[in-house]
Amino acid sequence: MEFRHLGNSGLVISEIAYGNWITHGSQIEEEGATACVRAALDEGITTFDTADAYAQGRAEEVLGRALKGERRDGLEILSKVFWPTGPGKNDRGLSRKHIVRSCEDSLRRLGTDYLDLYQAHRFDYATPLEETLRAFDDLVRQGKVCYIGVSEWRAEEIERALTLADEMGLDRIVSNQPQYSMLHRVIEPEVVPASRRGGLGQIVFSPIAQGVLTGKYKPGQEAPAGSRATDETGGRFISRVLKDDVLERVQRLVPLAEEAGLTMAQLAVAWVLQNDNVSAAIIGASRPEQVGDNAAAAGVRLDESLMARIDEALGDAVQRDPALTVSPPQRP
Ligand SMILES: NC(=O)c1ccc[n+]([C@@H]2O[C@H](COP(=O)([O-])OP(=O)(O)OC[C@H]3O[C@@H](n4cnc5c(N)ncnc54)[C@H](OP(=O)(O)O)[C@@H]3O)[C@@H](O)[C@H]2O)c1
Repeated sequence: MEFRHLGNSGLVISEIAYGNWITHGSQIEEEGATACVRAALDEGITTFDTADAYAQGRAEEVLGRALKGERRDGLEILSKVFWPTGPGKNDRGLSRKHIVRSCEDSLRRLGTDYLDLYQAHRFDYATPLEETLRAFDDLVRQGKVCYIGVSEWRAEEIERALTLADEMGLDRIVSNQPQYSMLHRVIEPEVVPASRRGGLGQIVFSPIAQGVLTGKYKPGQEAPAGSRATDETGGRFISRVLKDDVLERVQRLVPLAEEAGLTMAQLAVAWVLQNDNVSAAIIGASRPEQVGDNAAAAGVRLDESLMARIDEALGDAVQRDPALTVSPPQRP
């Protein structure tokens, strides 16, 4: 495994992180989830990402049990707050009340007394940013959270948060967690430059586009049995990228991966890690073999000519519009 600093912070994380959205507490049984976590630890992964809202809290519980007995200070455990965790008006968003309550619940479910990184899972237009940043800062002072970050915030939102934190003398955000892959590059024009200026690193999600970049989904064919596309919840999310014109373009990567001596998943994970503003790629997995496959992308360098041929192969299937970084206009 290779390790990188989280932005300009002192925290070091594994450049491949393991995340449990869709899988733990939902798509896969606990035994399979535990096997994936064990595989991640065996690969030298120390960074684990989850969220309060994944599988209504069950994802954090499963991860907490799977990591039980590991040396806590040898791990970096990341969670998030924003999406609904209950039926109430205050069971969501980035109000002081919800941040404080949800952090306590995450700590209990994960069986730990601190989070290494606590992330605002989207921007909340219904809460003053001052209130959110102060609540996060309080958690840092209380030792419940070591660092704070955000997820899918726009460049101007990141910049406002940094300016405000400096004015108020509060802890600065150190990371952003955006979607980023060969197919989805919307952070490149604005979010990445703003993050570089502000000292944030990206912890990127869906680096293999939820499985699409493995090439296992073929144009005009049914999705393979047991894949995310066939899972009730997962299927809703992956359907946005399961388009025949995209799948046809992805098949053009097969000879490029072969030539580079990489699997398709390794090529995709290695691709996001070529961006030096990326601190880690968070991989998901429904089986332990996938963890082994994808984690082997750590430390892989892709040369310029291969990067250019990837661009040529994918052509207009690549999303680049920075306007695609969005948070819900109203609280969900
Ligand atoms: N901040 C946010 O808003 C946000 C949003 C999404 C995700 N995330 C984070 O990012 C993590 C990763 O997201 P993701 O799961 O979408 O990432 P991903 O790595 O792009 O996709 C993972 C899925 O692809 C399939 N797969 C993985 N490796 C494979 C291989 N070698 N061969 C064939 N299929 C393979 C598996 O699904 P099947 O086997 O079921 O097909 C696996 O669950 C999440 O767990 C979460 O921590 C954050």
